[in-house]
Amino acid sequence: MSEIPAKPVALEARETGEDGRRFSPSVARNREPIRDVFAQHVARDGRVLEIASGTGEHGAFLTDELTGLEWTYSDVDAHSRVSQAAWVAAATHDRLYGPLALDASLPDWGEAEAEPPWDVVVSINMVHIAPMSAVEGLFAGAGRLLKPKGRLFVYGPFGRDGIMAPSNARFSEDLKRRDLEWGVRDLNMELLPLASLADLILLDVIEMPANNLAVMFERT
Ligand SMILES: C[S@@+](CC[C@H](N)C(=O)[O-])C[C@H]1O[C@@H](n2cnc3c(N)ncnc32)[C@H](O)[C@@H]1O
Repeated sequence: MSEIPAKPVALEARETGEDGRRFSPSVARNREPIRDVFAQHVARDGRVLEIASGTGEHGAFLTDELTGLEWTYSDVDAHSRVSQAAWVAAATHDRLYGPLALDASLPDWGEAEAEPPWDVVVSINMVHIAPMSAVEGLFAGAGRLLKPKGRLFVYGPFGRDGIMAPSNARFSEDLKRRDLEWGVRDLNMELLPLASLADLILLDVIEMPANNLAVMFERT
């Protein structure tokens, strides 16, 4: 696994605290709407594996707010894992774990495979900013590692049946200029076939602020 990607892993400027915790402006904007959907449609308790945890803020916030969750961070990027480890160290509870070094595009998710099946797999804002192989791996891995009735939660910008909000279409073009393998994906045309291959059924699609979607799947 490549430890230090040659490209930036996020498009925004992030601040780093003295203890190594990083803070991202987008998480400050989206964490409360995500908490509300997560609590209502995904889970209030159980073991969660997060793919592409980035700064680690989502896991820290959600485990503070939903006290039945046990959350394991992971990321392909070593610098992001440093921030995730700092969030684990700073937590006032013992329900944050990891980070695991995990590349979603690989057929073997290492330590995450050794665990008993997960209740929830989460991926926030990775699908558009990673190659399609990571998206394929995300669905395959969720299908492989979730327990029956376990949930996959995916959040980000998406098109639907070939139609995309103009702001998302512009964003997608910008992403592709940075990396031809990145881009806003189509939920119906690109993600649902992967879900079907992985025995994941679509449960809910919730419209979120700034033309994002929260998409919930259930393992059959
Ligand atoms: C835009 S950031 C989002 C981070 C975080 N989920 C959030 O919402 O703030 C994208 C993340 O995807 C991770 N990533 C990209 N490709 C990946 C892969 N193949 N496997 C695991 N993580 C990956 C990057 O390292 C980065 O942390």
